[in-house]
Amino acid sequence: MGDPARLVKTDDASGRGSAMGYRVSPPARMRRYAEDEVDAVVEVMVEAEAQTQGRYLRQFEADFKAQMGANHAFAVDNCTNALRLAAILCRLAPGDEVIIPAYTFCATAIPFGASGAKIVWADIDRNTWVVDPRDIERKITSRTKAIVAVHLLGMPADMPAILSITERHGLRVIEDCAQSPGASIGGKQVGTFGDFGCFSFHGAKNMTTLGEGGMLAVRSDADALLAAGLRHNGVRAYAPDRPRYWVPAMSDVDIDIEGVWPNNFCIGEAQCALGSVALRRLEETNNTLIDQAMRLRAALAAVEEISFARVPQGFRHIFHAFVLHFDGSRFGKNRDDLLDLLTTQYGIRAIVQYHPLYRYPLFQKLGAGEHDCPTLEGWWDNSFSLPWWCGMPEETMDYLVSSLQSAIAQLRSG
Ligand SMILES: Cc1ncc(COP(=O)(O)O)c(C=O)c1O
Repeated sequence: MGDPARLVKTDDASGRGSAMGYRVSPPARMRRYAEDEVDAVVEVMVEAEAQTQGRYLRQFEADFKAQMGANHAFAVDNCTNALRLAAILCRLAPGDEVIIPAYTFCATAIPFGASGAKIVWADIDRNTWVVDPRDIERKITSRTKAIVAVHLLGMPADMPAILSITERHGLRVIEDCAQSPGASIGGKQVGTFGDFGCFSFHGAKNMTTLGEGGMLAVRSDADALLAAGLRHNGVRAYAPDRPRYWVPAMSDVDIDIEGVWPNNFCIGEAQCALGSVALRRLEETNNTLIDQAMRLRAALAAVEEISFARVPQGFRHIFHAFVLHFDGSRFGKNRDDLLDLLTTQYGIRAIVQYHPLYRYPLFQKLGAGEHDCPTLEGWWDNSFSLPWWCGMPEETMDYLVSSLQSAIAQLRSG
């Protein structure tokens, strides 16, 4: 990593590289659009006067609040900016510390690093592979101001345990739900436990709004009052009934938090119209992914070298990705030996999604390279993902299972 000789110049902005030549490779999106989703976008193109900031935005936010049980919801252009708004609303400043799981996508941490606060990396739980509440507690200092819980891969982080710690210490809680819309604990949706829930509708997610999109769920009325202006260049309406509508101007522009410049994090009407329809399909998508995951897990249960995250009782994991751990230590083999076989002999483009974030040059160069995450260090180097999408054909799943079984048998016999 970071070695210029290994950096490949590419116009593949997804970072996934070429899928050419593989029999099974991860697609760039989770599922195809349904007809009513296409119709929703076309309706806005043809019928809607306002192309942004209109009734589809209000409807999408209302639908999202109702479906997720959120107090307030603000649709934004992506989850990174939902996280950025959360960081701003936490009023983070240099000298503050924010505890963030080291195992996640870089966008979880970048907005907090950009706030000037120090990132303190939290370890994963050895059973669930998401953030370990006990490690969060161990890393709290007098400077800690907020913690970020990531419901990674579709698995809920243990919010009841996290909240019992953060409430004792008076900390702000941000949930990164980019990979987990519809995941829940005891029937309560992720994103509604903490102060803020940040959702992504990126093209590869379980629901998408034309490739980009996001939502900020907000718990308190006080935070919600500030979010609209921060999202939209500080714009606020004058009273609509003034005698001369143009006096003094169309709208006022002001600040919401002392010293903080607002920005434009808005999302267009076509994306919002699609979002309302996609929300109604989310359950079906998640249920299909859960069924597929259960099938694959059952078929691989007898392969003793393979293990999966344990889903705690009452937790709903929605399987945004299908991640496995391989332990070939008995016969001196590791994940990379297995992936060499899967990719070259079986044509399965298994992937390793992200490094622990402190291993990336970005975080090392910006002062966030320090870490103490022994469980993640011990687990990560032998973890990987299989190609995964909603509606994977039975024969593809059978092929994944039989290929894994035979590749591991090959490694066992040297
Ligand atoms: C865990 C996590 N957090 C944040 C993000 C950022 O989402 P977006 O691409 O909508 O900015 C992603 C997206 O890939 C993600 O997987």
